[in-house]
Amino acid sequence: MFDDSKAGINHSPIWAKLHQHQRATRFMQMRELFHADPQRFKRFSLQLDGLLLDYSKNRITERTLELLIDLAREADLPGWMTRMREGERINVSEKRSVLHTALRLPQQESLLLDGEDVVPAVHEVLQRMRVFTDKVRSGQWLGYTGQPIRAVVNLGIGGSDLGPLVVQEALAAYSHPDLTVHFVSNVDGQHIARTLQQLDPATTLFVIASKSFTTPETLLNAEAAKAWFLRSASQADIARHFVAVSTNAAAVSAFGIDTEHMYGFWDWVGGRYSVWSAIGLSVMLSIGYDNFREFLDGGYAMDQHFFGAPLDGNIPVLLALIGIWYNTFYQAHTHAIMPYDHGLRRLPAHIQQLDMESNGKRVGRFGEPLDFDTGPVIWGEEGANSQHAFFQLLHQGTRLVPCDFIVPMNSHYGLEQQHRVLVANCFAQSEALMRGKSEAEVMAELPDLPGEELDMLLPQKLFPGNQPSNTIALEKVTPYNLGMLMAMYEHKVFVQGVIWGINSFDQWGVEYGKQLARRILPELDAAAVSSAEHDSSTLGLIRHFRKTHG
Ligand code: F6P
Repeated sequence: MFDDSKAGINHSPIWAKLHQHQRATRFMQMRELFHADPQRFKRFSLQLDGLLLDYSKNRITERTLELLIDLAREADLPGWMTRMREGERINVSEKRSVLHTALRLPQQESLLLDGEDVVPAVHEVLQRMRVFTDKVRSGQWLGYTGQPIRAVVNLGIGGSDLGPLVVQEALAAYSHPDLTVHFVSNVDGQHIARTLQQLDPATTLFVIASKSFTTPETLLNAEAAKAWFLRSASQADIARHFVAVSTNAAAVSAFGIDTEHMYGFWDWVGGRYSVWSAIGLSVMLSIGYDNFREFLDGGYAMDQHFFGAPLDGNIPVLLALIGIWYNTFYQAHTHAIMPYDHGLRRLPAHIQQLDMESNGKRVGRFGEPLDFDTGPVIWGEEGANSQHAFFQLLHQGTRLVPCDFIVPMNSHYGLEQQHRVLVANCFAQSEALMRGKSEAEVMAELPDLPGEELDMLLPQKLFPGNQPSNTIALEKVTPYNLGMLMAMYEHKVFVQGVIWGINSFDQWGVEYGKQLARRILPELDAAAVSSAEHDSSTLGLIRHFRKTHG
């Protein structure tokens, strides 16, 4: 068992040492570090198969990393890694194991949970998914008019939407040419209405993806889809057009889907970690079993690396520690993720859920208050678009914003010159952020100007630089490399949670809003009486709705 009697990590001597180290090195310029050490890239980069991590453009020295690794040891990171891998119930508030890594295990491996090997069950579901997706993809699975399926609609939200959406988009080059995949998540009716407008019920398959099968947004969309479908088909046809992915067989049956058409998973898979489970069914429909297996294999390769590599040569561990260096010791409040790949444009949204739902916590795993900042605000947008939107602030604003640049070395889409321009832009941004532009460099570019004009212009043309970034270069966005990338971020978030003493696998914070929405819903009715418990703003808004809603 792990030791729950410890005081917060911020009371440890190593925490104080890191603060001291930050104070001593805070004026250090990365530009000078590069100048002093031509081997810096070599020293501070790592490669795993088709994924290269360059973490040399950070405000770190070898001493910084040594201290951060001491911090990881102080938090017993190796112990927590073993506990997670072996299925200990480290999600203490929900008394659950955390075993998304088991979903990626090859068939010959085994993993005992309460004395039972979970790997055969994982592979049994994968094989059922394979049989079903093969039938749909080959045109053998026919809709109610005898035509093959041409469109898949994934109905899910949060982890039951974002993970599969990112993978499906990122791997568009691998998708079935005659099958379109749509993702409907929002309870805003326009999302499903606008999607259905494009579709033919006779050739559409709905995948209702919900771990709990109680999420109102998803169930309302599923009911809307069913009503739309039944306008032209009969109840008996539902079996050919609706399948479910869930851990809740009873609720799936109650919705009207035979559990024969349900693909299950387990409570030890968190929603935001579930794309590797049957929640990936829409993805498998699109890219096929073999490519999905490659995606799992990429995740597995990252797991092997994470659980096996020494801490100072461990990609997710280093990313996590460098993140903590800025978040905790430099008080950087945000972290930006910029994929220079159009297919990966929704990756920032997925990482946002992964990171912010996992580590957006103010108490430790045993309920103890944490008196230091925890998870950062994650945000980002695809490059090069983001350069023309918010990069101004990164280059010349007042805030420290650590960034991750993600870029493939090869494109699936030809247009070689465009790809080179994209890559050049990505490399240029991290270089510019790191090196900045000095007064002498600006002066050399300016024409002779009268003194007053020079005084006005010079400061505006200066770039302070020293903005840190990691670059993650993928050889190409293949299923395998994408698997490595996504598993890498999962482990990064886990490591940070361990160091801050957080349970990264529950999400109580999303419950309260849901509870209040349930109370407000009936009060939107004109005839209803509002609860006296509302504040005047909420009450005013409810009344305004009643007055203006047609
Ligand atoms: O937002 C809370 C949450 O529970 C997420 O963690 C989850 O991914 C999402 O809702 C969807 O839940 P479900 O898959 O049970 O519908």
